[in-house]
Amino acid sequence: MIATAAASVIDTIVLDEETQRRRAAEAERQAQLLREELAQRLFTLCDIYDATNRRRIFGAERPDDVFERHAEAVARVVAMQRPEVIGRDGKSLTLCLPLGTHEQSSWIAVGETAEIAEHVLLSLAEVWVDMNDSRRRAAELHDESRRLSEHIAATFEEITLIYRLTQNLSISRGSNDLGVQALQWLADVVPAEGMLICLNAAINEDTFRQEERRESVFLTHGQNLLALDEFVELIDGLRALDELDTVRPVVLNQGLPGAAKSPFPQIRNLVLVPLREGDRLFGWLAVMNHRDGREFGSGEANLLGSVGTILGIHSGNIDLYKQQADLFGGVVRAMSSAIDAKDPYTRGHSDRVARVSVRIAEELGCDDNTLRTLYLGGLLHDVGKIGINDDVLRKPGKLTDAEYEHIKTHVEIGYRILRGLKKMGHLLPIVLHHHESWDGKGYPFGLAGTNIPFLARIVAVADAYDAMASDRPYRQGMPDEKLDAIFRSGSGKQWDPDIVDAFFRCRDDIRAISHRHPDPVETVSLEWAH
Ligand SMILES: [Fe+2]
Repeated sequence: MIATAAASVIDTIVLDEETQRRRAAEAERQAQLLREELAQRLFTLCDIYDATNRRRIFGAERPDDVFERHAEAVARVVAMQRPEVIGRDGKSLTLCLPLGTHEQSSWIAVGETAEIAEHVLLSLAEVWVDMNDSRRRAAELHDESRRLSEHIAATFEEITLIYRLTQNLSISRGSNDLGVQALQWLADVVPAEGMLICLNAAINEDTFRQEERRESVFLTHGQNLLALDEFVELIDGLRALDELDTVRPVVLNQGLPGAAKSPFPQIRNLVLVPLREGDRLFGWLAVMNHRDGREFGSGEANLLGSVGTILGIHSGNIDLYKQQADLFGGVVRAMSSAIDAKDPYTRGHSDRVARVSVRIAEELGCDDNTLRTLYLGGLLHDVGKIGINDDVLRKPGKLTDAEYEHIKTHVEIGYRILRGLKKMGHLLPIVLHHHESWDGKGYPFGLAGTNIPFLARIVAVADAYDAMASDRPYRQGMPDEKLDAIFRSGSGKQWDPDIVDAFFRCRDDIRAISHRHPDPVETVSLEWAH
């Protein structure tokens, strides 16, 4: 049997046989208690009936034809909820009295008694009916109060779960990470033997680390009732049966339907929730096998639907962010290409400076945001060369003083190019100050020591390294020994000594970066665009 739950409504779930049997037993127990009480107070012989369904629940003191012989009187008792004498045989009186509503059925008692006057019997019966009615209402109120308490407790847990999730919707938090956390929190609220999240394959989940999610991600909690390939088979099976709903939660309480059942006998019941945002489906959340052997209801379906919506929106936001990062990356690529086009002899220089800068910064213990800034700053540190005369820029020989002064203006040109771009504001110190010198003899402002922005000091080392190490058409790159000697002698003079120390600590990695094929800009991470 399948029930499909909307955000707030779920179809009636058909009771299974076990539940029906349990409820029938409970009704019989209640009827027996009533009968015993009535036998003590009013009757010598008494039967309890379900008047709504016209059947005897307990007792067998008379032929089972009460509803045929006394149809009108029984109808009056049920309608008026007052007792009535429905038969007389000498001194023996047959009394029918209402027992109220049980599980949407009206119950009555039919009993006999003697040695008592009719009006006295009726008065006693009315007192008992009133008393029974009060007792029943008190019990109902108690039950309602208990249910309300449970509902409030469950609602509080659900709100706590939703609150926790919404507090963790940062874009920088990947879908996998949030999914693992969501499963742990759900396990505290939903009594299921196993639960899982399946995220569809996506590209560039975390390009900062150059890792890409090209395959589905499968997260589980509790019992591993399904492997990834089995879950995919299950989804395909439900889709083939037209039982898959990609918008709303699906509740399967009688095992899986039709042909989908046999491959997965371990699945007793299941709630399946799509993770989507708008018209995009990012994956699935599934909860399997109620831990108490019961059925999943609208409470679980609604909660899981809310969690699915939150996870879907989070995936959608990440996707949107990636699109923006792609756009930003396209702009950076275009700028880097423009620098390369101006100065083909140094092709790939900006990318190598960016990577060497990041490696040095890692050695210095910088955080991820700083590394992102440094990478972009490295890529664009010479963007001002776009405004430098080609003849000067490409001149292989020694520059005149005037030509050198002209080249030096590239840092301020670069600053003016980027300062109008809000998203690149954090790169400006790198672009403007990467030619400052630790001893104050650099340009454009002659800043010294720690007055030079930290990231510009790092790029200064990476820039000098690549300029000396890389080959040019008119000369070979400098040998390592000579290059290292220059850095040692320039430490504390041209460059920040701490950064030169870090450079030497990761010298082998930097050498490997500088020998890479110099065409990496196309593969550059696009998600440095914070
Ligand atoms: Fe430069």
